[in-house]
Amino acid sequence: EGVFTFDPGFMSTASCESKITYIDGDKGILLHRGYPIEQLAEKSDFLEVCYLLLKGELPSAEEKAKFTGTIQAHTMVHEQLKSFLNGFRRDAHPMAIMCGMVGALSAFYHDSLDINDPMHREISAIRLIAKIPTIAAMVYKYSVGQPAMYPRNDLSYSENFLHMMFNSPAGSREISPVLARAMDRIFVLHADHEQNASTSTVRLAGSSGANPFACIAAGIAALWGPAHGGANEAVLRMLDEIGDVSNIDKFIAKAKDKDDPFKLMGFGHRVYKNFDPRAKVMKQTCDEVLGELGINDPQLELAMKLEEIALSDPYFVERNLYPNVDFYSGIILKALGIPTEMFTVIFATGRTPGWIAHWHEMISHPYKIGRPRQLYTGHTQRDYPNR
Ligand code: CMC
Repeated sequence: EGVFTFDPGFMSTASCESKITYIDGDKGILLHRGYPIEQLAEKSDFLEVCYLLLKGELPSAEEKAKFTGTIQAHTMVHEQLKSFLNGFRRDAHPMAIMCGMVGALSAFYHDSLDINDPMHREISAIRLIAKIPTIAAMVYKYSVGQPAMYPRNDLSYSENFLHMMFNSPAGSREISPVLARAMDRIFVLHADHEQNASTSTVRLAGSSGANPFACIAAGIAALWGPAHGGANEAVLRMLDEIGDVSNIDKFIAKAKDKDDPFKLMGFGHRVYKNFDPRAKVMKQTCDEVLGELGINDPQLELAMKLEEIALSDPYFVERNLYPNVDFYSGIILKALGIPTEMFTVIFATGRTPGWIAHWHEMISHPYKIGRPRQLYTGHTQRDYPNR
């Protein structure tokens, strides 16, 4: 019945047309709506990149102010969402809670189901970008037993996020501009990456006409795994496990051993087979943050040594395995005081505009329900035994 190609892992199948993000994996190029990621990381900020991804153009000063105001008008979450949060075990993984809480937003915004109305699509996009940091910070506060902080709309997006994470009703500290800038850059560097596993999941879920909040929850679920967004968390766990520079050779040998499932976390990429342009910017941000905080982190030294050894080892060179974005982001997040279990939540917060831009792009053009085929390798037809 019909002819189709067998392409496990979608190595050579384009699932859609898109005008949002361009990647040239061999040359290490990443463009959002045509703009290089290095320029966006240096000259733009996260909310502007959200606007760019969603609307296709950079905003004018007036448009940016209006967009920022609209986002700020939606930063609060419904008080009832707190009861939902309280139902989770306090020690649950934050990504487990994020899947539930973001999915639960679909129960609060019934208008979001009207996906054929551009106004409703836009308001869903705004709500997601505005509320996900609030939810992320609530999840963290819940894990440490502190009251959730309300958002502060006089702060920038990233300052407000750090405020909700680290301030408490008992006392607020000013957020350092260098640290807020680093946080913002982490969000910018994660904002979109075309048809990766989580974005494809959002598109696939969305292709059935599902509620956008549920689709983003599906993206969060797909992001969680260590082969995708969970890698930043896995990098830190790996550095902990390696422990000391003297153990690096042993772990490099494990990574090369095909009978050992261990891989160097934060190395390799499905698309970048030369270098990850985001990792270059991330490394620079990493130096800035550690300089500002005066941290001399032995884990960073370990990471640098690991990078150096891996990059000169023929196994990694022949396979074009370079540090990816998660390799450095883990170290920066640690320096910012963000606990390891929250790393992938940060990735999800940054990736939200990408997910919603792809969902919006798909819904606003003719599309088909995503329905891959399979190569059946099971039993041929057989009769139920008489017994
Ligand atoms: N350590 C050791 N060997 C590796 C690694 C690694 N990190 N990554 C790939 N290889 C080997 C792999 O075993 C294979 O060897 P061989 O050809 O001898 O069988 C070869 O390199 C090609 O790798 P692959 O598994 O075919 O590549 P892929 O495109 O299927 O996988 C990847 C890409 C990112 C899943 C993989 O490199 C990996 O698991 N890396 C570690 C996890 C990680 O850092 N993930 C974050 C990805 S970037 C951020 C994001 O998108 O979320």
